[in-house]
Amino acid sequence: MKVLVAVGSKYGSTREIAQAIGAEIRSIGFDVDVEDACGVLSVEAYDAVIVGSAVYGALWRRDASALVRQHAEALRVRDVWLFSTGIRELKEPGYATSESEQLASLANAQEHVTFAGAIDYDRLNVGERAVMHVINPPLGDHRDFAAVRDWAHGIGVTLLYLALA
Ligand SMILES: Cc1cc2nc3c(=O)[nH]c(=O)nc-3n(C[C@H](O)[C@H](O)[C@H](O)COP(=O)(O)O)c2cc1C
Repeated sequence: MKVLVAVGSKYGSTREIAQAIGAEIRSIGFDVDVEDACGVLSVEAYDAVIVGSAVYGALWRRDASALVRQHAEALRVRDVWLFSTGIRELKEPGYATSESEQLASLANAQEHVTFAGAIDYDRLNVGERAVMHVINPPLGDHRDFAAVRDWAHGIGVTLLYLALA
């Protein structure tokens, strides 16, 4: 069974979450590719697809949302999971944007979850820093890799079950 983890990330924190998901599912014995969403031309070669994105201004990164929209038909006949990375999650656990819920429904995803992300203020551009001053979010790295691995492990176990069924 071949698994794709595709990710939309600007500063890399979500890409590292995608890599942790890929490593966990690989450790269960599956063949896993982890790719930036902008580099994915087709999902046809995969039995299961996990798509994740950082959230900026309540929206997914464009490459990740485009991947789900453009390949919705192929995704709907595969096992699909979605995840978002955001900082709102810290204030509202379980937070999902209306876009991520719409994408989950388009792809007929088994589940969509949101993980806490990371903001490195020093790396932000002037516009982004201005936004930070207005919304005053918790800065720093709030990623919980144990929670990420737990979620990925659950997906791996589900895939094992499906492979044996
Ligand atoms: C300008 C800006 C806008 C953001 N907007 C949101 C948002 O609307 N909701 C949210 O939960 N997180 C928001 N975040 C937090 C990012 O989603 C979080 O930092 C994420 O980990 C970034 O992922 P990346 O390093 O892969 O780009 C924002 C961060 C920045 C810098």
